Amino acid sequence: MSAAVEVVDLGPVGLDRGAHLIVKRSLGRCDPGARVEVRGTSPELATHLRAWCRAQGHALEEGERLTVVRGDADLGRWRGATRTGGASPESVVDAAPSAWGLAARGALVEAGAPEFEFRLDRKSAVWADAAVDLYRQAAAAQWDPEAAIPWASPMDHPEEVEDALVQVLTYLIENETAALLIPARFASQTHPHYREVLQLLAIQAADEARHIEVFTRRALMNREALGLCTSGGQASLKTLVEEPDFELASFLLSVLGEGTFVNLLTFLRRHAPDACTAEIMRLAVADEARHVAFGMAHLIEQGAQDPALLPRLASAIERRHDALRETAGLNEEVFDGLVLLAAGGWAPDRIAAGHDAVVELQREMDQGRRSRLRRLGFDAVEAEALSALHTRNFM
Ligand SMILES: [Fe+2]
Ligand SMILES: [Fe+2]
Repeated sequence: MSAAVEVVDLGPVGLDRGAHLIVKRSLGRCDPGARVEVRGTSPELATHLRAWCRAQGHALEEGERLTVVRGDADLGRWRGATRTGGASPESVVDAAPSAWGLAARGALVEAGAPEFEFRLDRKSAVWADAAVDLYRQAAAAQWDPEAAIPWASPMDHPEEVEDALVQVLTYLIENETAALLIPARFASQTHPHYREVLQLLAIQAADEARHIEVFTRRALMNREALGLCTSGGQASLKTLVEEPDFELASFLLSVLGEGTFVNLLTFLRRHAPDACTAEIMRLAVADEARHVAFGMAHLIEQGAQDPALLPRLASAIERRHDALRETAGLNEEVFDGLVLLAAGGWAPDRIAAGHDAVVELQREMDQGRRSRLRRLGFDAVEAEALSALHTRNFM
C-alpha cells in the first residue's frame, strides 16, 4: 500500500454535515489513482465515506487509516459536455442546438441532457441586435398603474362623450388582448439561447397586460358595462392571433398594427376628455413605440440578409386582406366614438371638426405605415398599395 500524498482532517464533522466538500476539494487537486488520507473523529466516518466513495466512483482502503483512492468517474461525466456559446449577446450562434435546452447561455451542458423543442431556434428567425437595448429600456420604463395614473382627476364632460370613450376602450381591450397573446405564444417557442428576445417578448406581453388593466379600469369608472365587440373586429384579430410564422406575425402586429395604434393612442391622448384618460394614452403610446421598434429592427436586420423576405411580407398583407374581404372592418361605433371624442359635443360645427380630425387620423396612420414599409425596403408605390390593404380594424 503506497503512502497517501495528502491528508485531510475533518475533525468532529461527519459527511452528514458537509465534510464531503472537504474530501472532494482535496481529490479535485489530484490525478486519478492518487491517494488522500481522511482523518476525523465522527463515529460514522468510515460508514459514510464508504458509501460516498462508492457513489462517486472512488475506492476506499480501510485499515488503520482511511485512504481514498481517486477514481475518474467524475472526470468522465463531463467528457463530451458542450459550452452553450459565450455569455454575451454578441456571441449568439446562428443555430441553437435543442440539447442546450434551458441552459444559461455560456453554461457547460452535460452530454445526454434532454432535448427541448423550440421552433424559433435560429438567429435569423428571432434575433435583432436592438433587443438587448430595447429590453433594458422596457425594464426601466415599467409603470405602476395605481401610482402612475391620476385616477381621481376631475371629469365634467358630457355623458355621451363618456359612452363614446367606453366604446373605444372596449375596442382597445380586445386589440390589446391579441397583442398580449402573440408575443406570449412566440416567447414559448423561442430558444433560451436568444435570451434577450425571450425577455423582450415577455415584457411586451406584460406591457399589454397593463394596457388591458388600465383601459378596463377607466371604462368601468363611470359605467357598469363595457361597449360592443363586433365580429368584423374579431375576424381581423383572429387572422393575427393565428398567424403561425413569427416574422409574418410580428410584421402584421408590430409594424402595421401597433404602428397604426401609436397614431390612434396619440389621437386619443390629444382628444381625451379628462387628464386620467390622457395619461393612460401617453403611457400606452410609449410602450407601443418600443413594440414597433423591435418588430422593425428584427425585420430590417433579416431583410438585409434575405431578399425573399419583402415578397413574403407583401403576400402576408395580401392574404390577410383577402381573408377579411367579406368582413365589415372597423366597428362603426368605434369610428363614431372617435368623431364624438374629437368633437367633444353635439354642435354641428364641432361634429364636423371631429370628423375632420378622424379623417386626418386615418391619413396619419396611412403615412406612418408607408414610412415604416419604406424603411423595410419597399418602394413608394409598393408601400402605398400595401398600406391601403391593411385591415380597416387598424390592428
Ligand atoms: Fe398595447
Ligand atoms: Fe403593443
